[in-house]
Amino acid sequence: MDLDSVSADLAALRAGALNEIAAAADLRTLEAVEARFVGRKAGALTDVLRGIGRLPSADRPAVGALANEVRVALEAALAARRAELEAADLDARLREDRVDVTLPGRPGPRGSLHPLLETNREIARIFGQFGFVVYEGPEVETDELNFQALNIPPDHPARDLQDTLYVEAPARTEGERLLLRTHTSPVQIRVMRSTPPPIRALMPGRCFRYEAVDASHGFEFFQVEGLMVDEGTTLAHLRGLLDEFAHALFGPGRRTRFRPGYYPFTEPSVAFDVECLICGGEGCPACKRSGWMTILGAGMVHPVVLRNGGLDPERVQGFAFGMGTDRIALLRHGISDLRYFLENDLRFLEQF
Ligand code: DAH
Repeated sequence: MDLDSVSADLAALRAGALNEIAAAADLRTLEAVEARFVGRKAGALTDVLRGIGRLPSADRPAVGALANEVRVALEAALAARRAELEAADLDARLREDRVDVTLPGRPGPRGSLHPLLETNREIARIFGQFGFVVYEGPEVETDELNFQALNIPPDHPARDLQDTLYVEAPARTEGERLLLRTHTSPVQIRVMRSTPPPIRALMPGRCFRYEAVDASHGFEFFQVEGLMVDEGTTLAHLRGLLDEFAHALFGPGRRTRFRPGYYPFTEPSVAFDVECLICGGEGCPACKRSGWMTILGAGMVHPVVLRNGGLDPERVQGFAFGMGTDRIALLRHGISDLRYFLENDLRFLEQF
């Protein structure tokens, strides 16, 4: 062991290390190179320094200085190469992770209006054009407003337990009996008692009947009620208004007709028919071969009902109408079974 051979070893080590540093293609390789040459535990340079003890003492400072110079040179080369590799790494990541801000976004799932709500809104929009304003009444109603005030006598079949869901609740006043309203007509009385004529009211809401459920009957269903009260209101006004309504909802040019009907709270009473929406009047199973479909009941408000509403039938007259929202929605969308409406099956609801 002498100065020349150690110097030669150090020169070779330096040249080899610089080569490998330059050739390191990634940071992991560079770290391995660093450990092998300048690592404090097992690096080649450390090995050389450990051997200094075996040199004559006069040579030791020169070898120490030389070794140090090699360490400084290698560490500088390592740092430079690391910076290069890190920059390349960052470049690559920027290139790969680039977000193209011009790409269209992915659409999130969007809800839509329930077909019954949408139908209610469309009905309210059409009557709104004629000045009708929406009113609401409670679903738990008194027997008085649901039946008595509407001129439905105590022995009327509709009041039978077979048809009406009565509510067992402590009465707020003597003799008051509560029930789930069987129609939206009681809201007529509430509006008449709270609003001075002229009245143009539209009253949508949920109704209940004690019914066997099938494709066209639910024990829970929706109605829209209409009421107009003013001086000189006639059946002709009702006819004209309902024509406009039917044409707006089902298309212009569709024929309509009044048929005589019966309701205790109107006199005269009518059924309002529209030319069959399926066959256009030819006659088909949907219209039971008649060519017509009944879409609502209506009539001139019975004087007794006006009086129960606190109005004077000698001074004002009115007409009223009531329709099933479910039935109208079925007809508009060609749905065959109203049970779909309350099942909340997304495969059904997503179609609207
Ligand atoms: N309340 C009636 C029913 O549930 C519908 C009805 C018919 C309402 C005639 C009215 C009307 O306002 O005039 O079958």
